[in-house]
Amino acid sequence: MNGAFCVSLPKNILIMVATLDIPVTSAETSKLNNLDLENLPFGKYFSDHMLEADYEDGEWKNVEIKPYGPLLLDPSNAALHYGQSIFEGVKAYKNANGEAAIFRPYDNFRRFNLSAERMMMPTVPEEIFIEGMKQLVALDSNWIPKKADHSLYIRPFMFATDEVIGVKPSANYKFMILLSPTGPYYVAPMRIYVEELYVRAVPGGVGFAKCAGNYGSSMFPTAEVKKLGYDQVLWMDALEHKYVQEIGTMNVFFIIGTTAVTPNLLNGTILNGVTRDSVIELLKTMGLTVEERDLSIDEITEAYTKGELKEVFGTGTAATIAMIKELRYKDFVMEFDTATWSHCPEVKRRMDAIKYGNAVDEFGWMVSV
Ligand code: COI
Repeated sequence: MNGAFCVSLPKNILIMVATLDIPVTSAETSKLNNLDLENLPFGKYFSDHMLEADYEDGEWKNVEIKPYGPLLLDPSNAALHYGQSIFEGVKAYKNANGEAAIFRPYDNFRRFNLSAERMMMPTVPEEIFIEGMKQLVALDSNWIPKKADHSLYIRPFMFATDEVIGVKPSANYKFMILLSPTGPYYVAPMRIYVEELYVRAVPGGVGFAKCAGNYGSSMFPTAEVKKLGYDQVLWMDALEHKYVQEIGTMNVFFIIGTTAVTPNLLNGTILNGVTRDSVIELLKTMGLTVEERDLSIDEITEAYTKGELKEVFGTGTAATIAMIKELRYKDFVMEFDTATWSHCPEVKRRMDAIKYGNAVDEFGWMVSV
């Protein structure tokens, strides 16, 4: 670690952060020449470099940026067997002048370390998570697509590296950051099935953590509803199957009259989404009342029947904002004409304007690299 510099945090707080001199091994050739940055499926292509760091003997070491490439893992790797594995999703954008900035990385940094604590993993220091991310994005900034709805998806992750199959917290870990240029996650409004059998999270469980197992366990229920022609499930609470929680891998919002309602974070079953929080702030600037509270499926069907349920959408880093055109609860089908919506498109427009540098960043969300 060497040197120090000032960083500007949201709300203009200046703090001193130690700088980290991260060694860089450059890729000999760039894969970028063979890639069309305008036609990209989510998560399939990765930039030329990645960041890697090891946690050994109680400290982080071997921080480096190197050419993207495979890892050599022992088959007894503890993460593969018992799931000590967490991740984040962050995005970088380019403005019209070609300057790169990352959307709210400090929020992901804080959430990552909350996930780490819940999974009995070491926290990652800011100079590795944030500074490492900034240096990696700066190095591969020509991988940031410029097209609308496109961005550079940043995937920080950490997993156990002990080579032992006893069930206990690993002593060793690897932290990495990958970069993946991407287009829209969902290209069309979605059909959603209200899930009554399988659950995503229970109070006291790991619903608030971004741990790999949450995503693995969602795949079977999702595959079941795909067979019925639906895109994703609407997860319900585990105890009563009465209150809505999340949609697929996203937080969920319901516009009822002029009030936006989204499930609250109180019992630890909901991921504290960075996009969720941004949408809450932006909806308020649009004059809507935002309520974070329990929301039952009965209240939703009743609001739909009365004509008061105006818009339903999911929010997440990968998907940003995804419109829902159909919501099915048992045999009751709620259909929406998304072309007539105003709030959801407007909140997306305002968020995109900040991300792509076309509006004043009044919340201090963008962090330059
Ligand atoms: C994200 O939005 O970053 C997510 O976590 C969804 C993802 C698993 C693709």
